[in-house]
Amino acid sequence: MESINSLKNRFLTEKNEAEYRLSGKNYEVAMKHLEAAGKLLGEIYRRDINPQRREEYKQIRNQLEERFQECKEALGLAPSRPAPARPAPRPVAPKPAANAAAPKQAQGKAKAQEEDDGVNYMINGIDVKQFLASESRDKNVMFEDVIGMEREKATVRGELFLTEEEKAYKQEIGLKSKNFILLYGLPGTGKTFFAMALSNELRQFSGEDIPFFSVVCTQLKSSHVGATENNIIALFEFTKQFDRCVLFMDEFDAIGQSRQKASGDPTAVTTVNTLLTQLGGFDSNPNLLFIAATNCPYNLDGALLSRASPKIEVPLPGGEVLYGTLQRKLGNLVAPDVDLSAVAKKLEQSKFSNRDCSNLIDEIKRKLFEAHRVDDMINNVDSAMIASALREVKSSVKRDEQIALEEFKAQFAEN
Ligand SMILES: Nc1ncnc2c1ncn2[C@@H]1O[C@H](COP(=O)(O)OP(=O)(O)OP(=O)(O)O)[C@@H](O)[C@H]1O
Ligand SMILES: [Mg+2]
Repeated sequence: MESINSLKNRFLTEKNEAEYRLSGKNYEVAMKHLEAAGKLLGEIYRRDINPQRREEYKQIRNQLEERFQECKEALGLAPSRPAPARPAPRPVAPKPAANAAAPKQAQGKAKAQEEDDGVNYMINGIDVKQFLASESRDKNVMFEDVIGMEREKATVRGELFLTEEEKAYKQEIGLKSKNFILLYGLPGTGKTFFAMALSNELRQFSGEDIPFFSVVCTQLKSSHVGATENNIIALFEFTKQFDRCVLFMDEFDAIGQSRQKASGDPTAVTTVNTLLTQLGGFDSNPNLLFIAATNCPYNLDGALLSRASPKIEVPLPGGEVLYGTLQRKLGNLVAPDVDLSAVAKKLEQSKFSNRDCSNLIDEIKRKLFEAHRVDDMINNVDSAMIASALREVKSSVKRDEQIALEEFKAQFAEN
């Protein structure tokens, strides 16, 4: 018999195909995919006895029916046309008691191994620890350390930092909370830095010890059939142990690349479907804040992109941000005649990222150190040291990447 996971994958393929056709106004083909999706959903509903999921299936069925109705109206068809198959009603099993303690017991079929810190890292036979970045979180980085990006900080504050009353009101009016943020921008602009600061701010705001798990997506990839998908499932299952947690996935394009573009790679389809299931579909974790980061959002799959909100651009730093960084890190070392704002302007014109700027500052400090070694009376950075460092450290920004990003922004920009 076909497994539920396989049915779910097939369902998502049909549903996504229907969405894709709808976006191209190809209603007839969309209806065929909606019908197929409806049948698969019926089968999944009959096989899955989890009462919470069965409620979700009903909601998804309603969405399918709405889409189906849209197609009928667009094609001017009679209302007698058959709608997607409805899942047969079945008696609902009693709801399992919620476990409020953090971390929760591992759920589902996860065969878990208890570790000293009370967290289970062995999920479905996979050691999730191997994927987690060792310096999972720099606990000291806060929004005040992120120079500039005030609008972006305000956006996430408005979306995520909610009082209990605000949360309750959102629920009352049926407004879903955002739980999938996409950070995109050129290399070294500060996506990881921003994600860390955000998770620390969230922890401070809520007063809860919200764990932050950081994963570089290339680590999840495997050449063995089905292994990438299983790694992703294990990772998301792992997060279900916590009442609340943040999962940060860096280099998200490594696993979330467009299924259309990756037509030569059949695993791209199942990998994206697995991600969709974990993020907004059947097995999603409502306690999870998911943050994805990428340098090339234009390579991401459309279905993933449409679920990410807010999509936040982490831009190249402007002159003021660069000045702030120079001032903060070099201010007390520079000679009185050095004009740091002129240096910042030059860096902005040369398209320096924050990382390029940090590299330049390190190089300048190295020059000072060398000069001080020769003559211990030299304790200041002078213009010659800066000019010399500028000859060695260049911007890492590539023109074609910048152009591709501009095009993406024109289509998808939210901030
Ligand atoms: N807004 C900022 N204010 C101050 N420093 C920053 C800011 N953004 C980034 N930095 C500095 O630049 C460094 C590089 O940033 P980070 O590693 O977050 O970039 P990234 O966008 O994640 O890069 P990549 O695309 O290569 O993963 C950080 O370690 C931090 O020191
Ligand atoms: Mg990064």
